[in-house]
Amino acid sequence: MTAGTAAIAVAALSREEARSELARLAAAILRHDRAYYIDDAPKISDADYDALRRRNSEIEEHWPELVRNDSPSGRVGVPPTSGFRKVRHPQPMLSLDNVFTNDELQEFVERVRKFLNLDPAVEIAIAAEPKIDGLSASLRYDDGELAVGATRGDGRDGEDVTRNLRTIAAVPERLQGRPPARLEVRGEVYFPIESFHRLNAEQLASGKRAFVNPRNAAAGSVRQIDPVITAERDLGFFVHSWGETSETLGDTVTEARERLAGFGFNVTPGTEVCRDIDAMVRFAEQLYADRSELGFDVDGIVYKVDRLDWQQRLGASTRAPRHSVARKFPAERAKTRVLSIDVQVGRTGALTPVASLQPVTVGGVVVGRATLHNRDEIDRLDVREGDLVTVQRAGDVIPQVVDVDLDGRPETSAPFEFPEQCPACGRPVEREPDEVVTRCPGGRACEAQAFQQLVHFVSRNALAIDGLGERQLRAFWDRRDIREPADIFRVAEDEQWLQALSDEKGWGPTSVHNLRTAIRGARDVALERFLFALGIRHVGQGNAAQLARAAESLGRLMELAERARDPETPEYAELAGVDGIGAAQIRALVDHFTDPSTRTVVDNLRAAGVNVQDAEAPAADSPLSGRTLVFTGTLAGLSRNEAKARAEALGARVASAVSAKTDYLVAGEGGGAKRRKAEALNIEVLDEAAFQKLLEA
Ligand code: IVH
Repeated sequence: MTAGTAAIAVAALSREEARSELARLAAAILRHDRAYYIDDAPKISDADYDALRRRNSEIEEHWPELVRNDSPSGRVGVPPTSGFRKVRHPQPMLSLDNVFTNDELQEFVERVRKFLNLDPAVEIAIAAEPKIDGLSASLRYDDGELAVGATRGDGRDGEDVTRNLRTIAAVPERLQGRPPARLEVRGEVYFPIESFHRLNAEQLASGKRAFVNPRNAAAGSVRQIDPVITAERDLGFFVHSWGETSETLGDTVTEARERLAGFGFNVTPGTEVCRDIDAMVRFAEQLYADRSELGFDVDGIVYKVDRLDWQQRLGASTRAPRHSVARKFPAERAKTRVLSIDVQVGRTGALTPVASLQPVTVGGVVVGRATLHNRDEIDRLDVREGDLVTVQRAGDVIPQVVDVDLDGRPETSAPFEFPEQCPACGRPVEREPDEVVTRCPGGRACEAQAFQQLVHFVSRNALAIDGLGERQLRAFWDRRDIREPADIFRVAEDEQWLQALSDEKGWGPTSVHNLRTAIRGARDVALERFLFALGIRHVGQGNAAQLARAAESLGRLMELAERARDPETPEYAELAGVDGIGAAQIRALVDHFTDPSTRTVVDNLRAAGVNVQDAEAPAADSPLSGRTLVFTGTLAGLSRNEAKARAEALGARVASAVSAKTDYLVAGEGGGAKRRKAEALNIEVLDEAAFQKLLEA
């Protein structure tokens, strides 16, 4: 658009002119914001830029009803690090547990039955759906208008990709019918197969790289800084679930789907309600047979408990809901040759043999490396350099070697000799009697381990520092600028260092500025992320979350760990009472926080200004919040697991044994010894009715 209406005084604009001028201004301001914030190359003077914003505000003031959803007045700049603002999901976007066999599928249904305390005769209807192989995204609608669209991110915080998702035809801007005032739907952005092939042909024709599969292409398209590129790609969106809603969507998954379709969404097609396990298995077989005809990639089936009141009661663990599971399709396989076998040292010192392969396409992806897991696996397969092997890829997992074709073995081959010394630092390797893993005992003194710990520290589910990955860390490591996590925060405040970096090839002022912002942004970190980032053995994301909730602060967790050195202490018992924490985890925590080499990592981080935030105290208004419960006997109305999950959701800790720290013993039918102990310690004993009251209080 040329000057046109831009010269007309605001009051003289017609309504239509005002509308189109607001559109023009939104686009222009975004373009200039991008030039300024992302490219560091402003195209107009500050004064001209301010004039654009002012005119936008004046028009908006005059025609408030024309204010655009993407109005620049509601936005300050564009976020500097990855180009996308972070958004907290009101309810976490979880993952799904997987089942691999029909027996496991049956066990899932039985687990549900047990949790809900249902009679064997009660039918559990299951909604079966294709599992769409795309990019998960959430869309929030306020009063039927699209407000925010976000990626899943780490499940807690996603990226604000509203502008990009808006360009997808299947993402309605405004809902039809009578949607809830607040509605957040979740689904998959996918690339229709045909469009994918067309896109790749265009990519190649213009000298760009082809995408490996439709899912990567979908993810790459949504995460474009420039929504125009997203718009050029023919993406689809299927709604499969929902997050926060201000009113219920129905009594069953089936009803909810119909309502969602009525609002104008494309809901996942090809679903079916199964009344028994045979129907569930048949559904899977049929879908597998039909998969190439669907027009979009499907990587398995999702089975969901159809009744939503049951879903509600089943709730979720930290990672996945208990009411749904995924069954992945069988893995894809291909044959190729092993070029060499290398042994890598991971962050915990584990030695992992990796086969370097003659590149081969497996399930649409080119594979050049595959894990051989460990020494036993090499012995079991007797895999050797030069062998002809079968590699398999299942979902997102690392490709693996599953079989050796002895007919294809070269005559000169020799068995692979697993190293007795760490390939990185030369220390003799160790193997504990009950472990399959061979380890280098060097800890942080082994450079390979110290380096991998850094890589883990900045990774996506840990401190998530954008722009600082393995490649960048390797360079900083080699010249000894960053050798431990605290160094990251130190260099980010070192003006000279930053200046020197911005003169380097591959860097420049913008990326250095972004790096610094990302590092500074990571200084305030949630306790659970921090714990996970430390890479304590046996403490994955789930355990880190549980520990954070139980201990509430880093200081307190360190105190617990120090005292738990002695298994007779109440601190040991407290840790042991945390869901998922057993002897191995406690030993690892004690070691981590008392061994000077790991302890200094934490101390140095704190000294470098890292502020570990206390865990959010759960629902403080419940009488169970912060209380420690122990269960004994059988409850009539709900299973032990459901009772535990509900109490925990209200902020209670559930311990396995009665101690002086116990606040309540919940006693069902039977259960003698714990009850006697509780009475001896003067601990309040609740019967089932009293416990129910507290749950509902
Ligand atoms: S239900 C806890 N239904 O699969 C989330 N998810 O592996 C349950 N997915 O992140 C959502 N197709 O994004 C559901 N028909 C479907 C799905 C589906 C694909 C994704 C989903 C989730 C991932 C878990």
